[in-house]
Amino acid sequence: MIAFRTGRKIPASAELHAVGVCSGGDAQRPDGLDWGVLDGRGFEANPGQVEIVSGQDRPIAVVGLGPADKVTAAVIRRAAASLARSAKRMKRITVSILDAVPDSVDRAEALRALAEGMTLGAYSYGDFKSEHKPNKLENVHVIGPGGRAVTEALEQGQRVAEAVCFVRDLVNEPGGSLTPIRFAELAEEMAEREGLEITVLDLDAIREAELGGLLGVNRGSDQPPRFVEVSYAPDPEAECRGSVALVGKGITFDSGGLSIKTGTGMMTMKCDMSGGAAVLGVMAAIAAVAPPVKVTGYVPMTDNMLGGDATRPGDVLTMANGKTVEVLNTDAEGRLVLADALSLACRAEPDAIVDLATLTGACMVALGPKVAGLMGNNEAWVDQLADAAERTGERVWRLPLPDDYKAQLDSPVADMKNIGGPHGGALTAGLFLSNFVEEGIPWAHLDIAGPAFTDAEDGETTKGGTGFGVRMLLDALVNFEPPSASEDD
Ligand code: BES
Ligand code: ZN
Ligand code: ZN
Repeated sequence: MIAFRTGRKIPASAELHAVGVCSGGDAQRPDGLDWGVLDGRGFEANPGQVEIVSGQDRPIAVVGLGPADKVTAAVIRRAAASLARSAKRMKRITVSILDAVPDSVDRAEALRALAEGMTLGAYSYGDFKSEHKPNKLENVHVIGPGGRAVTEALEQGQRVAEAVCFVRDLVNEPGGSLTPIRFAELAEEMAEREGLEITVLDLDAIREAELGGLLGVNRGSDQPPRFVEVSYAPDPEAECRGSVALVGKGITFDSGGLSIKTGTGMMTMKCDMSGGAAVLGVMAAIAAVAPPVKVTGYVPMTDNMLGGDATRPGDVLTMANGKTVEVLNTDAEGRLVLADALSLACRAEPDAIVDLATLTGACMVALGPKVAGLMGNNEAWVDQLADAAERTGERVWRLPLPDDYKAQLDSPVADMKNIGGPHGGALTAGLFLSNFVEEGIPWAHLDIAGPAFTDAEDGETTKGGTGFGVRMLLDALVNFEPPSASEDD
């Protein structure tokens, strides 16, 4: 964990000092740098480009920010992450990179992005390495004026980024280690730390609550399921604009069940709880961000295995809202556990619901590995989420929920089946979920199958779990306006 401080002078103990530089002919070049060396190394001040050169008292990291008129919080975040990686063998550094940021960028936003980027860039997962060499950065001294606003901005950025790292840890932990029991225990520890209310349903309570989707998926597993409900309420004296439900898919490992995946197909399937982890990540930072809304997170947790009594293709499940589902493909399990979670979320009559799920390979085919699919039944609510994603630099793209595709889910024996036709799988999955949202409740669905997990380091994302969704959801909660009851369909 990096501690951020502010001060006007470079302390003698600083092992490295970082300066920012914009690209382009008329960009200011900080004094005292050997530009001959930098030019020779091909330094062009591109966003995130970092070169370490020798300085008078200590090495200097020169951090590129790209063209001055294109510097945004996202650029600063990326540059700060590169800096944290380049300085990973140092404990104490000083930074004045924000001096090169034009005034058009809000100062608090820039400071938040700096703290976020450095914390996220310094992340690595080493729990199972016998010789883990974690990033050593401990102290970052931000050169410039201090004061409450500055400290608060740095602290918020750091708290949000730590919540993202908490999600990454959960996602990176192997499925055989992060069982539903452990996942729920970690949620309880987090809730206690943050002073949040939490209820954890065990197998008996899940049976009592008739969560037929969760029980159906869990049937092939030796590990009992869990269902976590965790809530936050704003200070009673503070503004409260309503309530939001966050629902996250918590499949701790997806083998596909009897409709088994290929060996390659299940290699990354420990990531199938990324939506649930993101919901817990939001809750982990919510007290720090203090949005003006009540927030409840719902996370159904189980693995999807193929034990001797696993759900068979053709079996019919009765979900928590009483609707029946013919399971024709046991690999379409996420929607089954989400059906229960959405049904429970609706009972509390929230002003809006958003679910996050690594739901379909089809969404990855459509949008690639970095962009999430965003769908919903209420334009105003979907807009709020898309705007939040834009602000936090997480990438989403709207997909439709065509009414006439619903017929693809018709079943001859039950209210619906759990798969649609061969094409448009992300949309039919979304349409399936819409059956479990009570009429009139604004609902949005984020298919994060692509961006939840990555095999390439890029900007502030590191290999493995990315923690996608935490930052945009926190932003959406802070800026929440109750959408008027479902205006579209
Ligand atoms: N967990 C997978 C989706 C997934 C795929 C997430 C790749 C991340 C990366 C999900 O449970 C699944 O297997 N969906 C099936 C649905 C199909 C059987 C209708 C899929 O996408 O193939
Ligand atoms: Zn699956
Ligand atoms: Zn899955």
